[in-house]
Amino acid sequence: MDKHAILEKNATLLLVGSLLVVSIGGIVEIAPLFYLENTIEKVEGMRPYSPLELAGRDIYIREGCYVCHSQMIRPFRDEVERYGHYSLAAESMYDHPFQWGSKRTGPDLARVGDRYSNEWHVRHLEEPRSVVPESIMPSYAFLRHTPLDVKDFSTHLVANARVGVPYSDEMISNAEADLHAQADPEAETSGVEARYPKIKLGDFDGDPQTLTEMDALVAYLQMLGTLVDFSTYDEAAGAR
Ligand code: HEC
Repeated sequence: MDKHAILEKNATLLLVGSLLVVSIGGIVEIAPLFYLENTIEKVEGMRPYSPLELAGRDIYIREGCYVCHSQMIRPFRDEVERYGHYSLAAESMYDHPFQWGSKRTGPDLARVGDRYSNEWHVRHLEEPRSVVPESIMPSYAFLRHTPLDVKDFSTHLVANARVGVPYSDEMISNAEADLHAQADPEAETSGVEARYPKIKLGDFDGDPQTLTEMDALVAYLQMLGTLVDFSTYDEAAGAR
């Protein structure tokens, strides 16, 4: 115990000693990460976004929805009670760039899928105050009248594949057909359903004739947080 006094009375020695201790701690924490291929725990159900969902995501980013909305439920009781199961790393592993965010002028959207009807979303995006009178969200009515730009859409999948999203050649070659099929109530959809499990089909914006940016954005919102099957996740994790 007395020897400790030597360290405490000599500032330089204390500094060297602290540095040594901190370095050992650092190495123990950091070194194993170099030997792990992936730090994201795999969960059942995550799949790459369908072409229409991906198009909607592009619009979400273009319109700056992330300026007011986060997409990450923190593991705190108040968050979990309000929004649902806290977000998992795997749920944003196909997001380039991710949409976690920390600014919440509006609520978190990580699990907004299936919470409202398509009609609600369309009305809300056209005129937020028609459904939520006190809302300060801007109106995005023009989306319903803007045809979706689908030209060379497969290149969006190729770009995502380059940064690691597992889009297969089949998904890429069918991208434009799948994009139309998802929002067309008359279309043959067995292909797109097989490629993208749990996909939501049908007309999203109330106008089955034209494929609009509103179709894409609502398809994206309705998918958020619905892919992971939490019954299998919690079992695997030992029911946290
Ligand atoms: C200026 C900030 C702002 C921007 C930008 C914004 N929102 Fe909102 N949003 C809000 C606020 C505030 C609410 C809560 C009131 C309401 O429901 O309208 C909200 C609510 C929502 C909800 C309902 C969420 C829930 O759980 O009830 C959705 C969905 C939504 N916004 C989507 C979007 C999308 C998509 C965009 C981009 C096209 C967007 N928002 C842009 C502020 C914003």
